Amino acid sequence: MKFQVKAGNWTQAAQDLVIVVVPEGQLLKWAKKQGVSEMAAVARQAAGSVEKASEFRGAAGETLLVHLPQGVAARRLLAVGAGPVKELNAGSFRLAVALGARWAAQKGLSRVGFVLELPGQKALDEKARTEIAVETFLLATYKFTEYLEDAGKHAAPDQVTLWAASGRSLPGLQKAAAYARTVGEAVCWTRDTNNQPGNKANPAYLASLARKAGRDFPSLHCTVLGPSELKKLGMGGILGVGAGSEQPPQLIVLDYRPARRLGPTVGLVGKGITFDSGGISLKPGQGMEWMRFDKSGAVAVLGTMRALAALKLPLRVVGVMACAENMPSGSAIRPGDILRTHSGKTVEVLNTDAEGRLVLADALSYIGKYKPDVVVDLATLTGACVVALGNEAAGLFSQDTKLVDQLVAAGTRTGDRVWPMPLWPEYGQMIKGDAADLKNIGGRDAGAITAAAFLQNFVQDYRWAHLDIAGTGWTEKGKPTAAKGATGFGVRLLLDWMQHLAGRKV
Ligand code: BES
Ligand code: MN
Ligand code: ZN
Repeated sequence: MKFQVKAGNWTQAAQDLVIVVVPEGQLLKWAKKQGVSEMAAVARQAAGSVEKASEFRGAAGETLLVHLPQGVAARRLLAVGAGPVKELNAGSFRLAVALGARWAAQKGLSRVGFVLELPGQKALDEKARTEIAVETFLLATYKFTEYLEDAGKHAAPDQVTLWAASGRSLPGLQKAAAYARTVGEAVCWTRDTNNQPGNKANPAYLASLARKAGRDFPSLHCTVLGPSELKKLGMGGILGVGAGSEQPPQLIVLDYRPARRLGPTVGLVGKGITFDSGGISLKPGQGMEWMRFDKSGAVAVLGTMRALAALKLPLRVVGVMACAENMPSGSAIRPGDILRTHSGKTVEVLNTDAEGRLVLADALSYIGKYKPDVVVDLATLTGACVVALGNEAAGLFSQDTKLVDQLVAAGTRTGDRVWPMPLWPEYGQMIKGDAADLKNIGGRDAGAITAAAFLQNFVQDYRWAHLDIAGTGWTEKGKPTAAKGATGFGVRLLLDWMQHLAGRKV
């Protein structure tokens, strides 16, 4: 998909479809504002009559298609409702763009225009609208087709032209569009990688992608620790989880060292269970196939690291991906086993299906050697988090209120929403061990919180937040901006957060 930002009369450019987002009751006003061309008159007329007939009010999700007459270069106009002006925000605008983009893709239209003008509101400036539009065109029309002989009718537009209100703003908007394209493509790359099934995307596969990232970007330095290195480092957590699988576990480090550095050193940690069968504490068969997405956290870190390098963000960032496959076998760990982690702390494994926290324990203590100022980990950690928040937000666990505020704000801006959960010391009592320092499950109550409290034991001398992305890392039903499967959750959130840390955005 190619993007361009232009100013001028969009009616006189050959396009299969021009999309315009219209808040409730604004169609007539919008049409009146559109230039003096023949097209404007047509649009005005169409808008005037349909509004009278209340065929199109501009409610969220409502659409109106107008076929344009001969003599107008643009063939069709699709108005998409954005809902009440007062409620307009990044989320409702994103939803309207997604609808229009999907409509174009379904009809197989290749040259698509998008009018940036959004009448009657002050919530989003033209630059914000440009970023959302570009990103959403990419995300909403994404599909994973690698294993399909017939990718179907699905065809994303080739050329998207964003029509700006005036030529004066073009340079700024073109920069915004380029940034959003890199971010959108990073999310799609993350989806593609995470959508790879367990028989392809094993820990060694993720390691090969990290090495490739190191070759693609000179600022990214890749180190992969395999079983023998992990043994030397005393990483009993990740080794224990990987013990039942034919696929050796891999602890992958991508170190982003840009030429220019501002702000703090950031650590990103991802859970990379390439398939979670539960191990000896085997999961029920129903729905087990979704556990190929139990690597969502690690893949989001990988996609984010690539994007950082592509964007040349002036911030030192270290990404650690803890990758293993959780399988039952004669060599698997058993309930009752005791593991010694990299930190020295021991863990009683009461349930081999609570494996994410075991691999993360090693990753969180290991990343300490890079002396990060702040670490965010992402993990599809608990079903309990899905019970709490559903698929609309990731659970955010941190006792650092400033970090919580930053991440919540980044989530609101990007649509990768996160929501704070408590992490009081009392929860830590629930996972104190009997025969070992800790036990890996805390019982049924507060399952997402006790998992976070477990991780807290391995946090070193850095500020820390944990994101439980069990409900957001993939979608089983599909969303307006994400087809069924991997969502790429976390990439936009982390990039936006780090852009702010580096002072690139305010
Ligand atoms: N990967 C799962 C968590 C999960 C479950 C994510 C469902 C998304 C949907 C994790 O490894 C797991 O199995 N957690 C257990 C923990 C329990 C044994 C304490 C869970 O949530 O049931
Ligand atoms: Mn599990
Ligand atoms: Zn898991």
